[in-house]
Amino acid sequence: MSSALSSLFQHAMDNSNDEFAQPSDLAVLLNAIGSAGKFISSEINRAALRDIFGSAGAANVTGDEQQKLDVIGDNVVAEALLSTGLVCAMSSEENAGMINCGDAAVSGEYVVVYDPVDGSSNIDVAAPIGTIFGIYRRLTEGVPAGDADILRPGSEMLAAGYVLYGSSTIFCYTSGDGAHFFTLDPTLGDYLLTGESVRSHGSSHVYSANEGNSGKWNNPDLNWVEHVKSEGYSGRYIGALVADFHRNLMKGGIYAYPGDKSSPSGKLRLLFECAPLALVAEQAGGAASDGKTAIRDIEPDQLHHRTPMYIGNADEVALLERFHQS
Ligand code: F6P
Ligand code: MN
Repeated sequence: MSSALSSLFQHAMDNSNDEFAQPSDLAVLLNAIGSAGKFISSEINRAALRDIFGSAGAANVTGDEQQKLDVIGDNVVAEALLSTGLVCAMSSEENAGMINCGDAAVSGEYVVVYDPVDGSSNIDVAAPIGTIFGIYRRLTEGVPAGDADILRPGSEMLAAGYVLYGSSTIFCYTSGDGAHFFTLDPTLGDYLLTGESVRSHGSSHVYSANEGNSGKWNNPDLNWVEHVKSEGYSGRYIGALVADFHRNLMKGGIYAYPGDKSSPSGKLRLLFECAPLALVAEQAGGAASDGKTAIRDIEPDQLHHRTPMYIGNADEVALLERFHQS
């Protein structure tokens, strides 16, 4: 059992399991992501002072306007993970294809999928954003890792989590034995345990959705939102998935990004956003669904596969699913 001052690295050393090649691999990978998170956190705090607000002047592969910090964050996470020598394949929301892992493409044991700066339109207004990640063990051997290693359902993920850059910087991870939370102590420069095996809050009648899109929603989602409003639910929408997810996990609620008439698959990316958060949600006693199927059971057909997602309190997700039963 970890003390309240347990560091992320020590905690991850204690939480490895037989699915990792070496007992220290989980800690090394999380430490790399945590280091990237410290760098991103510091860049965000000083973004206005260093003229790294605003657009990078291009759209990413799925059409979102890329912010300067999206590009910085993407490179920092990739470099931190590459430095471990453990990663054979990586893919992020900001890259069309897989990221080149050099020699480790053959020798590395792990595949990492990530969204370096989720909710990046919040950067310029000092609202919360985050980094989301998921880790798989590779399947192929002796060849450069490829699609077979990375196009996999979340049910095969070994570990996942996020770094939330809010009023404090929080690191969350699960390796399949609970969801654990650490807070960055900026003075010590370390993430210290602030919540072990945290359980998702009970239902508190909160929903998080961009209801401005409801003119394009389909009947199951329209009926659901009318129902929850008739029951007196409160709406809370930060506009950064990771921040809305974290808020609902701690305070109770459901986040919804449905498919709609113009985007039947919705907006969110299965590999980089949905599957990792689904693993965290389930490990905290919550749930994640596309309306009918558990998010972690969905097989990606491409790196940037999109899916509708409803995630949060398990009872709330079950209620939503009832509106989607035809
Ligand atoms: O990464 C996609 C994302 O930025 C999420 O973080 C966020 O919840 C969502 O898009 C916001 O989308 P919209 O602006 O359509 O509400
Ligand atoms: Mn995102």
